Amino acid sequence: MKITAKEDMKKMEEEIKNCKKCELWKTRNKPLVGDGSVDADILVIGESPGYYEDLKNKAFVGEAGKILDQLLNLINLKRDEIYITNILKCHPPRNHNPSRHEIDSCSNYLYRQINIIKPKIIITLGKYASKELFIRFNLGFSKISELHGKVFETETDFGKVKIIPLYHPAVACYNNVMVDVLKDDFWKLRNIIKKCD
Ligand code: URA
Ligand code: SF4
Repeated sequence: MKITAKEDMKKMEEEIKNCKKCELWKTRNKPLVGDGSVDADILVIGESPGYYEDLKNKAFVGEAGKILDQLLNLINLKRDEIYITNILKCHPPRNHNPSRHEIDSCSNYLYRQINIIKPKIIITLGKYASKELFIRFNLGFSKISELHGKVFETETDFGKVKIIPLYHPAVACYNNVMVDVLKDDFWKLRNIIKKCD
């Protein structure tokens, strides 16, 4: 019998719970595998779970999460219409930037998630998620300030996927100019989603 996407994700969740491939398992509360629908057409990839995400075991529930929710509301996208995960599944102490070793240890889970979900659109939030995906799919990464809001198409084992890098919502927490930049990019995203329907 064919294994469903939900069962596949559940199996991986068990593996991640026992994962010790980098040091972050020692200090995290629980790993955050991801949230939302495994049948979604849109996959959102952040950096790593923060303090509140680690505490509540849910993606984007802190200050950056409030901004993300505003942006999703703006284009009428519900959390259960997308799937949200991060490059790292465990919260790094003091939210340190993901190290090369941590990314290399953890990214296999992300690529398995991409193959399970088979999204049509991947949104990468911030420099780390964007750079990782650009390297993986052989798209030349430059700077998030140059690439944000643009659409990059790539071929995968399950077909064509649009990758759209955006600024991380955390940059907008205390900066209204960045809120406006993110809003503009989300409007563009809305039009791309409409065309994909
Ligand atoms: N920032 C992230 O990158 N991911 C989360 O889940 C929360 C905050
Ligand atoms: Fe494993 Fe990823 Fe957690 Fe490191 S961050 S322990 S690789 S699940």
